[in-house]
Amino acid sequence: MAEPMIIDGKVVAASVTDEISARAQRLEQEAGVKPGLAVVLVGEDPASQVYVKSKGRMAEKCGFNSIQHTLPVETSEEDVLRLVGELNNDSAVHGILVQLPLPKHIDEGKVLQLIKPEKDVDGFHPVNVGLLGAGQTDRALVPCTPAGSVLLAKRALGADLSGKNAVVIGRSNIVGKPVAQLLLQENCTVTIAHSRTVDLPGVVRGADIVVAAVGRPNFVKGDWIKEGATVIDVGINRIPAPEKGEGKTRLVGDVDYAEAVERAGAITPVPGGVGPMTIAMLMANTLTAARRQAGLKDEAPLF
Ligand code: GUN
Repeated sequence: MAEPMIIDGKVVAASVTDEISARAQRLEQEAGVKPGLAVVLVGEDPASQVYVKSKGRMAEKCGFNSIQHTLPVETSEEDVLRLVGELNNDSAVHGILVQLPLPKHIDEGKVLQLIKPEKDVDGFHPVNVGLLGAGQTDRALVPCTPAGSVLLAKRALGADLSGKNAVVIGRSNIVGKPVAQLLLQENCTVTIAHSRTVDLPGVVRGADIVVAAVGRPNFVKGDWIKEGATVIDVGINRIPAPEKGEGKTRLVGDVDYAEAVERAGAITPVPGGVGPMTIAMLMANTLTAARRQAGLKDEAPLF
């Protein structure tokens, strides 16, 4: 086997955010519109705090207005809904992201459904879910991790994925289902596999493109991978790493990387693969949202 291509998500994400910065600068010069992204964090979940900080920092780097609302964990559902309503009506805010998970006393569905679909840069609102399902990606805002996953597959295989056999492992609403819809939109033959799939290794062996999004460390084995296949690993799992010292941990994907790298034609590492793409695609969605709210057409798709 030739050496596989290791798809560097940090490099691809940086090229995306460079392009978004350039486009944002042009939008401001030509139309006087500065994209605004509002991020709402309720509570003090440490992982969420890190994500929210990176989102704000990247928005500023892209030349956007970055607005952050940090609310105490005991904030009532009513107050969160009121804030979302205000952001919906604020013309300087083009994108609204409510960081998940929310505290248990707040109904996530209720909050996400209140966000105006045209400001829903996470792509979680039922209107955007429906538009994606109907293949109307020119009108939808598409979830960031799935969009980033497909963009990485294109970096490996070229822009035309037509006719490829794609197997998506995992059927979650936030990754599995939307990534399958996007691959279908790219004219792939798509199989969604999950915990009840019979002969999962056999199903995966038919795949030219494997997207793993099951949330189980090292779940996909090397001998499931067809020689030369493109492997996109969406998993981020923290596991004990006693070899690094007592109590230490490390991040691994849903794919057994050491095995799969021996067979894949191209593969994303964890960390440094799909992870960095999520924030990059959030910036892309915010710019798209700002253009549409200004009555402007979408620009050429990123690739
Ligand atoms: N929590 C973890 N990932 C995400 C994400 O992509 N969007 C939101 N809103 N919350 C998250």
